[in-house]
Amino acid sequence: MTETHLLLGQTLGFAGNPFAEGIGAARHTHRGAVLIAGGRVAELGAADDLRTRFPQARITDYGDALITAGFVDAHAHYPQTAMIASWGKRLIDWLNSYTFPEEMRFGDSDYAAAIAARYFDLLVSNGTTTVCSFCTTHSESVDAFFAAARGRGMRAFAGKTCMDRNAPDALRDTAQSAYDDSKALLKKWHRTDRLEYVITPRFSPTSTPEQLEAMGVLWSEHPDCLMQTHLSEQRDEIDWVRALFPEARDYLDTYERHGLLGPGALFGHAIHLEERERAMLRETGSSLIHCPTSNTFIGSGLFDMDGLTIEGHRIGLATDTGGGSSFSMLRTMAAAYEIAQLRHRALHPAELYWLATVGSARALRADARIGNLAPGLEADLVVLDLASTPAIAQRAARADDIWQALFPTIMMGDDRATRAVWVNGCCVHSRPPQD
Ligand code: GUN
Ligand code: ZN
Repeated sequence: MTETHLLLGQTLGFAGNPFAEGIGAARHTHRGAVLIAGGRVAELGAADDLRTRFPQARITDYGDALITAGFVDAHAHYPQTAMIASWGKRLIDWLNSYTFPEEMRFGDSDYAAAIAARYFDLLVSNGTTTVCSFCTTHSESVDAFFAAARGRGMRAFAGKTCMDRNAPDALRDTAQSAYDDSKALLKKWHRTDRLEYVITPRFSPTSTPEQLEAMGVLWSEHPDCLMQTHLSEQRDEIDWVRALFPEARDYLDTYERHGLLGPGALFGHAIHLEERERAMLRETGSSLIHCPTSNTFIGSGLFDMDGLTIEGHRIGLATDTGGGSSFSMLRTMAAAYEIAQLRHRALHPAELYWLATVGSARALRADARIGNLAPGLEADLVVLDLASTPAIAQRAARADDIWQALFPTIMMGDDRATRAVWVNGCCVHSRPPQD
């Protein structure tokens, strides 16, 4: 018989989308319990009830800590771990000055493995249990990423970043080699264990039309894969795309005309969108990935969360490490809150938390497996200490409800708030409660 674990604490999940249905879509139990069996959430309920019904289960009592789905980071660049927080540049200069030189190191398997290990340790210590990452042009970087995720039992998404122009020679592939190498990696990793290969043209400025076409062909041959790229992050980038693709109607069209639009497409940033682009993205069920710490750090602009959620877009939340300035989805929720405030919309903690869990899982089309606290879903969980620092504790002490108790941790919390992390039904990280 498989061992059953019963985790006790406050529990929070979602029965619906709070953007559409209001905060009544959230399900909070003050003295709740999560029963884990066979790597999945088997039951949710009141602590007393589940203790009585499952007397054999091994109990971990987290007290007042909050048990939720682990965070899902829908867009990141694990190879940028070591150069995060590089000073003073905007997108194109930042790529050329900091990013490309660092990414050149990932042809070395040992270096790639060391950074992948460091990256996953940082993710887990911040409560993130699934990430969708870009790798570099090197196949070695993809192998290192998936090996590290597999070693930790994590559900993870990634792909070889394809670039055949406007990048240093050492990082450039070709249309044909990008197709061949991506296909070989896809065959090697896609749907092995909990891993999914993602077709990954970096962005239109670094791919020729021939390479985008090859990526479109590969995607049409493997429609069960996701496809990730960048879209409309900075004005200078959009002007550059217009010059590189004079025949395209807009930035999105550079992807669309090569078969890189549709359900399963993930567009990072998507800040400065035209009306036609917004309509096409929504009609096709493509996902927009909001990267708020990156958008402020590189100076990109203010994502239109309010307008896009009202239009019914599929939206995920992401760190965009290392254009983003953090590995933490708490910090990322805080930045999403601040950006929305600058656009005169106060995102509710329920909306922020939904974006960092269900929203991102839905963007990755993985919400039937991860991203929520619900029976049948995989037991990837974070347990948050809602009083992890003196500043947070004194503020949370005045809370009248779960949202007032949670919001200080969203705004001021860091990895000290991560009391425990469970991946696939096993505890992989824990720290003692703070006094
Ligand atoms: N656009 C193309 N590549 C990148 C990248 O690595 N980071 C960010 N933020 N934007 C990009
Ligand atoms: Zn990115």
